[in-house]
Amino acid sequence: MSNHLILLGAPGSGKGTQSKLLIENHGYHHVSTGDLLRSEVAAQTPLGQEVDAVMKSGGLVSDETVFALLKKGLDLSAGYYIFDGFPRTLGQAQTLEKQILDGHAHKALYFAIDTKLLLKRLIARRVCENCKSIYHLDHKPPKKAGVCDECGGQVAQRKDDQEDVVAQRIAVYEKEMGVLLDFYRAQNTLLEFDATAPVEELYQEIKTSLEM
Ligand code: AP5
Repeated sequence: MSNHLILLGAPGSGKGTQSKLLIENHGYHHVSTGDLLRSEVAAQTPLGQEVDAVMKSGGLVSDETVFALLKKGLDLSAGYYIFDGFPRTLGQAQTLEKQILDGHAHKALYFAIDTKLLLKRLIARRVCENCKSIYHLDHKPPKKAGVCDECGGQVAQRKDDQEDVVAQRIAVYEKEMGVLLDFYRAQNTLLEFDATAPVEELYQEIKTSLEM
């Protein structure tokens, strides 16, 4: 393990699922801008109130707001990080490069998947509101409906996992991702994965690529 990891991929491509495996088995620190933003919304902070409508509509929160939230509590000297859901725009990628990574070794992992497959994944996703464990009603349901296997917290559907919002999130992803992939390809730090593979198979592919 000698790189910070940047996870890139469409909504529902499996970034959160693979992050959890990498954290549990390899001790990465995890930062998910989606989780940070949802915590602000749940706590009804001024920032949360500002971003709630944007997130419910499937749009992107401004680069400045996301970056300010992300950099709080970040300490790259404490260990290797997984950046999950950041960057999402070229501006965010450039800021991450200059103001956070600042020469630290990193790899960008792109989870490629046909976006037509994502709606089914996302409308059946459920998430623990406490520990953020990820479930799927068909292939990974909690043992007791609505209750997290890991912490006993409440398992619920995310507000932005409704069909119309998912469609908008995918449209935003399709607009922004090409330029991000070009950015990391030009750096020679991009690794691409087939995100249609089953969870464990994809995890093994990642470990092999990263020589873990
Ligand atoms: P965010 O929370 O980052 O969501 P996202 O990128 O849309 O990604 P998801 O969390 O929906 O999916 P995932 O790839 O983690 O998939 P998962 O592993 O859960 O962002 C939400 C919103 O916040 C944005 O729309 C935006 O408004 C705002 N935001 C966040 N970051 C921002 C930023 N940087 N700038 C601006 N705005 C920002 O898996 C999904 C489901 O599929 C699960 O049920 C899982 O069990 C299942 N699954 C996973 N892997 C597999 C597999 N291999 N095979 C079958 N099923 C699988």
